[in-house]
Amino acid sequence: MLTDFAKAYLRISMSNILLTGGAGFIGSHIAVELRKAGYVPIILDNLSNSLDSAVDGISKITGRKEVLHNIDCRRENEVVDLIEKVGGISGIVHLAAFKAVGESVQNPSKYYDNNIGSMGSILRVAEKFCVEQFVFSSSCTVYGSPQEAEVTESTPMGNAYSPYGYTKQVGERMMIDLVKAGVKTKFVSLRYFNPIGAHPSAWIGEFPIGKPNNLVPYICQTSIGLRDELTVYGNDYNTRDGSCIRDYIHVCDIATAHVKALDYMLKPTAPQHDVFNIGTGKGNSVKEIIDTFKEVNEIEFKVIQGSRRPGDVAAIYANNQKAQSILGWHPEYTLADALKHAWNWQKTL
Ligand code: UD1
Repeated sequence: MLTDFAKAYLRISMSNILLTGGAGFIGSHIAVELRKAGYVPIILDNLSNSLDSAVDGISKITGRKEVLHNIDCRRENEVVDLIEKVGGISGIVHLAAFKAVGESVQNPSKYYDNNIGSMGSILRVAEKFCVEQFVFSSSCTVYGSPQEAEVTESTPMGNAYSPYGYTKQVGERMMIDLVKAGVKTKFVSLRYFNPIGAHPSAWIGEFPIGKPNNLVPYICQTSIGLRDELTVYGNDYNTRDGSCIRDYIHVCDIATAHVKALDYMLKPTAPQHDVFNIGTGKGNSVKEIIDTFKEVNEIEFKVIQGSRRPGDVAAIYANNQKAQSILGWHPEYTLADALKHAWNWQKTL
């Protein structure tokens, strides 16, 4: 028989989800969706690529005073202390990592140290607390340069194009090895395609520190006048208009996939390890993104043609049937919604 105290402890820990990288672009949107679904996000972030003001934005949306725990995942003892302080956790959503592909090529040690170091530390924490559910933030970059643009979860992982991509492949492998070693936690990797947009409230969104690398933040900054022009990298790819094709997915849709994954892992029938593509299932070219952004936001900005960016693959988009049928997840937002929300957010900065 459980004592009342033990029951209360269990109740609290059942809904607590440790959310690493919770002040970042994707993490802040996940925090909102966790609250919406009745979970309690325990937001951990070392603010190396995010701002604590994101947590104010999350609080405005959830109507609760959310708390930021400024901890580096690699400081395992501090993570353990935090979990004990909040009365335990039932799950972990692990996002904390560096994510700039180009920077990872310039400075691989930084990426191996942080991304793999954090993953190692957070997995030890999961083992220590016998965590039931673990969601890992993976990326379509694990496919490398696929033969076919449409990828399913069984498309072989190609040669990682960058150290960043390799850290995602290693992260996925680490979980498989833990399962083989008898760890009881259930693990899900969500392979995100290109996250864009912002919360419809415009209280949270992407906050690139310095010059953005990614397409949509660059478009937003050019539109608002922070940048003179946008360069389209490459016009000679074997695609319908010569520019690269990607699967651009609204960040709120990515966030809801985490809630679905956590719920899924509670089912006794769910395997101990699973992988899902999180994309819209549609590919759009760089030029289509530019044209749609201009059209839906009724704005003009200068675009110039540049040469290919080293490391870019020509085309990749998700086959998302598995996430739809097994997780019951469906993207809700259109590309136009995502580009409008990105622009609305930019105008608040
Ligand atoms: C890559 C990864 C993705 C990862 C993301 C993190 C792949 C296939 N994708 O996204 O998994 O989450 O990095 O940063 O490895 N572009 C321009 N002009 C610009 C900026 C970008 O033309 O100023 C083009 C790029 O050449 C590319 C497309 O826009 O074709 C998207 O680029 P970006 O937003 O940087 O994302 P990926 O490199 O696709």
